[in-house]
Amino acid sequence: MRHFLSLFDVSDDELKRIFELANQLKARLKSDVREPILQGKVAGLLFEKPSLRTRVSFEAGMAQLGGSSLFLGEDVGWGKREAPQDFSRVIGQYLDVIVCRAKSHEKVETLAKYASSVIINGLTDLCHPCQALADLMTIEEEFGTLAGKKLTFIGDGNNVSRSLALACAKTGMTFSIAAPKGYEIEPEFLARIEKHAPGAKIEQTSDPVEAVSGACAIYTDVWASMGQEAEQAKREADFADFQVNGKLMRAAEKGAIFLHCLPAKRGQEVTDEVMDCPTSRIVEQAGNRMHAQKGLLVWLLTEAVDKISVG
Ligand code: CP
Ligand code: NVA
Repeated sequence: MRHFLSLFDVSDDELKRIFELANQLKARLKSDVREPILQGKVAGLLFEKPSLRTRVSFEAGMAQLGGSSLFLGEDVGWGKREAPQDFSRVIGQYLDVIVCRAKSHEKVETLAKYASSVIINGLTDLCHPCQALADLMTIEEEFGTLAGKKLTFIGDGNNVSRSLALACAKTGMTFSIAAPKGYEIEPEFLARIEKHAPGAKIEQTSDPVEAVSGACAIYTDVWASMGQEAEQAKREADFADFQVNGKLMRAAEKGAIFLHCLPAKRGQEVTDEVMDCPTSRIVEQAGNRMHAQKGLLVWLLTEAVDKISVG
């Protein structure tokens, strides 16, 4: 059994296979073909933070694949009503797969340690690997290839940008990030990427114009993530020069697309002009969350399982 807690959990070839499945399932759905590949499988969506895209895309994806899902919010008391090992061992008996969104990455690691279900990270403070799957799927759809392309992230060295840096490294893309001083991706995380994907092309600067040069995709995220509400005012001041606006988009490659994981704070990290410009792909990107995750679910639940012979 395999988990998907981060992109470190899959090899480059496995990642390619997930994209292949995602693209096939997307094409089939377009022709209204919905095969019950996951018939009888049950997903639990264990969330301790709000969500629109992750929750709805996983629930819809499971339904389209013939499986079912249950949303498990605060009331199940993850980490509150009982010890994590008791919670995890019990819930693992009911569910084939658990998609979890947690305040701390360690909490998800503990769940994976004790639960007998497949665990998918639906966002933690450390990373957001399902988001990166949809992001790269969107870039590949646009440009036909990933290797050799450059993606620039403007903003926080956070869960979204860490996963993007790793996803780019695994697919031969260049990743550049312009972050204010003190908000960069940690050197230890970059070293982990370099170890996992030797030769990774990652550039880190505090100059947005320098960062976007030669990029085919410009990406940003909120300046204060969920759980950082108390830092909102300080972050707004610190990130003031890191807005993605028309001027910055024009400094990128001609035809560069704009991406955002959403939800966005329009007028802060990105202007309305960019959100709604002809090369904005934010809607397609959010749509691809479902297709990419369907590829992931099928891979994890049918191809990545140990074949155990019974009888
Ligand atoms: N991008 C993303 O994960 O959106 P939600 O928080 O709405 O799930
Ligand atoms: N960095 C954001 C992403 C939301 C999808 C957060 O963690 O709140």
